[in-house]
Amino acid sequence: MKKILVTGGLGFIGSHTVVELQKSGFDVVIIDDLSNSKIEVLDSITEITGIKPEFQKLDLREKTEVQNFFSKHKVDGVIHFAAFKAVGESVQKPLEYYENNIGSLVYLLQEMRNHNIDNLIFSSSCTVYGQANSLPITENAPTKPAESPYGNTKQIGEEIIKESCKAYNMNAIALRYFNPIGAHDSIKIGELPIGVPQNLIPYVTQTAAGIREELSVFGDDYDTPDGTAIRDYIHVVDLAKAHIAGLNRLLQNKNSKGFEYYNVGTGIGTSVLEIIKTFEKCSGEKLNYKIVGRREGDITSAYASTSNANDELNWKAEKSLEEALLSAWKWQQKRKQE
Ligand code: UD1
Repeated sequence: MKKILVTGGLGFIGSHTVVELQKSGFDVVIIDDLSNSKIEVLDSITEITGIKPEFQKLDLREKTEVQNFFSKHKVDGVIHFAAFKAVGESVQKPLEYYENNIGSLVYLLQEMRNHNIDNLIFSSSCTVYGQANSLPITENAPTKPAESPYGNTKQIGEEIIKESCKAYNMNAIALRYFNPIGAHDSIKIGELPIGVPQNLIPYVTQTAAGIREELSVFGDDYDTPDGTAIRDYIHVVDLAKAHIAGLNRLLQNKNSKGFEYYNVGTGIGTSVLEIIKTFEKCSGEKLNYKIVGRREGDITSAYASTSNANDELNWKAEKSLEEALLSAWKWQQKRKQE
């Protein structure tokens, strides 16, 4: 049985990926510093799969602790989620973002190298493309200067990994996520935003639940059919499965280069107003919303070309937007009852 280290394995995408790893027969060890996740998620994962993953509370900025971890645990591959991810906050606290997202990655790569572990899946983002010149966005689209320190940590992270793969003969895949949404079918794990959500879907579900008064739609004067911005919303379970596909590619030596990167999306663009309509239809709830000005830094439109992921990772998104929104809504309702 192959053993996989999942950093940030109690977070939103991490926890769903741990479930898929266990379902695919991998042994999992999680490290997480619990800065943006809850220890209860470990029990929820165990309830879903019947297998309790090994867990260690660990802050990857603590170099000695990272070294100790790797001398105690023998793993065959690493999926690295642990990172700060709030765009606005990163503008206020750039050094914290660089220290955490870059420092941790360097320590992790050093220990992987010291222990001859050469398979890494890295959480990257479609934010590296900025507003792409053409749609859908292929992996050949050039990366654009980052709009925020958060976005920059994803670009720099990819560079560090690429150079390490070249110098030390390691293998890695960066997955450039589009917009992950939804919750596990069991409704036992999902997104746990801290404070006021910045992302659209948690704001939608909290508004429908009466926690927020009204959703602000940021801009209706974009050059899109209904004037609101377009994104590629992918069900988190589909996204989790892309990590297993990437990992298998590396473990079976099917990768064509040391460092590869793939877009992970559905290939379908959906506007903010379409999200509202679809949410209202599948939840049966009426959503309070108003149109306000654009949010600074937002792009007009982004959706993925999925052919590389389809052909080379043998992966494709299977769940619909309706399923994703309904699962997010059920997750919200469950949390309100708790
Ligand atoms: C954001 C980040 C991106 C990050 C991703 C993680 C920015 C500029 N980008 O992407 O780097 O990788 O989250 O999930 O922050 N919207 C509203 N009202 C709201 C919230 C959002 O109208 O209250 C709109 C936004 O303007 C956007 C769409 O909904 O058009 C999606 O927004 P969001 O969920 O924040 O994701 P992104 O901005 O695409």
